[in-house]
Amino acid sequence: MKKKSFFLMLLSGMLLWGCSQPPAISKDEIAIIPLPQKLETGFGYFVMNEKTQIAFNQTDEEVASVAAYMREVLAPATGFKLASGNASKNVIVLMIDEAISGNKGVYQLDVKPRKIVISAPDATGLFYGVQTLRQLLPVEITQNTLQAGVEWKIPSVSVNDEPSFQYRGLHLDVARHFFPVSFIKKYIDLLAFHKMNKFHWHLTEDQGWRIEIKKYPLLAEISSMRKETLIGHGGIPPFEFDGQPYGGYYTQEEIKEVVAYAQSRHITVIPEIELPGHTVAVLAAYPELGCTGGPYEVVTRWGVFDDVFCAGNDEVFTFLENVMLEVMELFPSEYIHIGGDECPKTRWKACKKCQQRIKNEGLKNEYELQSYFIQRVEKFLNAHGRQIIGWDEILEGGLAPRATVMSWRGEEGGIEAAKMRHDVIMTPNSHLYFDHYQNNSKEEPLAICCFTDLAKVYSYYPIPEALNNEEAKHILGAQANLWTEYMKTPEHVEYMAYPRAVALSEVVWTDKSLKNYDDFIRRLKVHLKRLDGMNVNYFNKDF
Ligand code: ACM
Ligand code: ZN
Repeated sequence: MKKKSFFLMLLSGMLLWGCSQPPAISKDEIAIIPLPQKLETGFGYFVMNEKTQIAFNQTDEEVASVAAYMREVLAPATGFKLASGNASKNVIVLMIDEAISGNKGVYQLDVKPRKIVISAPDATGLFYGVQTLRQLLPVEITQNTLQAGVEWKIPSVSVNDEPSFQYRGLHLDVARHFFPVSFIKKYIDLLAFHKMNKFHWHLTEDQGWRIEIKKYPLLAEISSMRKETLIGHGGIPPFEFDGQPYGGYYTQEEIKEVVAYAQSRHITVIPEIELPGHTVAVLAAYPELGCTGGPYEVVTRWGVFDDVFCAGNDEVFTFLENVMLEVMELFPSEYIHIGGDECPKTRWKACKKCQQRIKNEGLKNEYELQSYFIQRVEKFLNAHGRQIIGWDEILEGGLAPRATVMSWRGEEGGIEAAKMRHDVIMTPNSHLYFDHYQNNSKEEPLAICCFTDLAKVYSYYPIPEALNNEEAKHILGAQANLWTEYMKTPEHVEYMAYPRAVALSEVVWTDKSLKNYDDFIRRLKVHLKRLDGMNVNYFNKDF
């Protein structure tokens, strides 16, 4: 054989081989956060184009809602309006398969060059499959405008995935500073993108009440407004103020809109109505609910304040029950957060009515009076089919019988509650307070205190070693908190939340044995481009 024809044969052989054997996918080209529990790579790519169809059971409303969501999130960058249809190739199938078992949210995703199949026992799993699919596409997919010239290739993979923890939360304090509905929706979209499922909406504080309650119009009129706001740090007098009236609240229509928006993203909104402390804003409008009768003013600086609900006055409970009736009407969440933190006992000690209550109820002290207060509210909410969450101070003076404890002053409260067989959500200020500094630079914007960087968040594991297997089952998951004394704008909230919330998503989703900080950082560098597309003002130094 002549040399030339030998080379031609070799060349055509290589071409043929190239056609029949698409390239092997390397794991290095994949950057999904949170890391799936199991992912295997295959050969070749599915290429999405304007002819790609979405196949699903259109009579199943929840599945149809996932399909609509997928169409909506894929449209802006690609310009594709994916049609529904049952093509045998170039199709993305969303399929309910009740045989797939696992934790709520479990799904499988199978990408092959001709077909993508997302299957799960329920719509929540399908929804998470869609999130993984978004992160398999080129990073431009999150852009809000048409991205010309991008080939929308999805590498062949087989994913078997489920969350490790059932409670995967992020909190936002909208009372110290108020944020518009448009931002709340963006916050929720970002949670969904990271397969988080709880939004803890901290709606009431000394410095402002942020939810319209029809029965008590003065909450909107008076409690939602403060006359000015502290300048600088709250811990160091003399205090200086800006002289600018500040306020805002969500109407019930807006609340319904947010709850529905979150629901379509498989996120539960858990409202927090603080009691008995952190309630000066309420007292400003309804002074008869305090021990001294006032007058009170909506608070203009940061801290913990002595004026709280009077525990000896039955009108307080009538007020709270009426408020809770409207709250329950607005929020389908089984959980209602009742606060319970940082309630000084100063006023109760000096109040005749409070002391009379202690006597009448056979209570030992003001801590037991606090427990009485919480239990009375719990009983009312339980009677309406709801459960309470409270900050770990609700352990003091006796834990309400069915309460779930949110452990914030470290993990001790959570450990104690789990040992008592109560459910627990871990949100320790040692690792998950995103109002802390994340960098040592002098240029960081003012924060409350402390240092909680990305690596520290990533290192967190919600189950303390002090618990045995039975007790550990009561740790439902974890949440990070964003208290907004020092965050005045959405951009600043994003700066404090991201990318720490990205690390948290892996803490609560991915099995501990699979976590690896170096690999997380490799994936994060890709992921930040996705956050760019979503216009997120994340912190971007030193990782
Ligand atoms: C809290 O940080 N006071 C719950
Ligand atoms: Zn009192």
